[in-house]
Amino acid sequence: MDDMIRLQQVHKQFGKGKQLVTAVKEADLAIRRGEAFGLVGESGSGKSTIGKMLIGLESPTAGAITYLDRPLWDKGQYRSPRPGEIQIVFQDPQSSLDPRMTVKDIIVEPLHALPSAERKEKGTQARLVSLLRRVGLKEEHLSRHPHEFSGGQRQRIAIARALITDPSFLVLDEPTSALDVSVQAQVLNLLKELQKERNLTYLFISHNMAVIRYMCDRVAVMYKGHIVEVGPARPMFREPDHPYTRILLSSLPSVYEPSVPAGGFAEPAADGGANACSFYSRCPSRQNACLQAPAFAEKETGWSSACHFRGGRAHV
Ligand SMILES: Nc1ncnc2c1ncn2[C@@H]1O[C@H](COP(=O)(O)OP(=O)(O)O)[C@@H](O)[C@H]1O
Ligand SMILES: [Mg+2]
Repeated sequence: MDDMIRLQQVHKQFGKGKQLVTAVKEADLAIRRGEAFGLVGESGSGKSTIGKMLIGLESPTAGAITYLDRPLWDKGQYRSPRPGEIQIVFQDPQSSLDPRMTVKDIIVEPLHALPSAERKEKGTQARLVSLLRRVGLKEEHLSRHPHEFSGGQRQRIAIARALITDPSFLVLDEPTSALDVSVQAQVLNLLKELQKERNLTYLFISHNMAVIRYMCDRVAVMYKGHIVEVGPARPMFREPDHPYTRILLSSLPSVYEPSVPAGGFAEPAADGGANACSFYSRCPSRQNACLQAPAFAEKETGWSSACHFRGGRAHV
């Protein structure tokens, strides 16, 4: 399978001096065409920042991001492959949908970035109605406003807005995290069906391992700006390599029977200093060797993690 998006040593900092926050550290990733690639990790680990760099809302401080081998960022400028090619659905449809706009205006808004002929062709009433129906809404909803809908319906509106330009790639940033569990499942199923029907590639961001397991083909696990493990979802969920992945998975006891105990977070220790592993201060398996950060190492082709004791065995 070919790569659609590649990140090479991508770094993102916010602020300056004492306020400096490094949100993403030396991230290497490849997202393949047609897959649902998951990004998981606790709040603040840098997931949304990666998503925002892909759609042009944040620029990388260093490193390279390519889309079909062409730079997405070039000298601080975002180079969209084609307007509307990459679209996003955010977590909270309450704040991502303008309350003053009608559903119709919300959905057609991304078309404004398109050349006029294409804008007309993609914005016909017939096309709008069929898209609206496809996401589970009705024609008469077009003239209504976001507050007249439930959370799940609002997220369906956000999905229609993302699809109106016929994108190839969608960033889904916690798209169901604000929804009730029963509604979550419906929206996830809709996203799965749409992916198949439209040959979409997904970057699916969530802090929820169960949702990631349901949706994704491959997964990257982030901890404090670092990618600590990347691999194929099913085997990785069966036998995670990195202690942090094991801890995240221990919230899913029904499927996860660890060959190596997850343990849970260790009592926070003073961090091990600038050279230490990023997970040092909370790792249940930390040892002196971890004061020197581990390199990323392959467990098997396409599956890597950064831990001296990955898979519960010493690699130092
Ligand atoms: N615009 C911003 N300005 C300053 N800090 C930010 C900004 N956006 C994100 N951050 C910080 O970057 C880190 C990663 O944030 P984020 O990517 O939103 O994490 P996640 O999506 O995994 O919860 C956090 O420490 C967050 O506070
Ligand atoms: Mg986020």
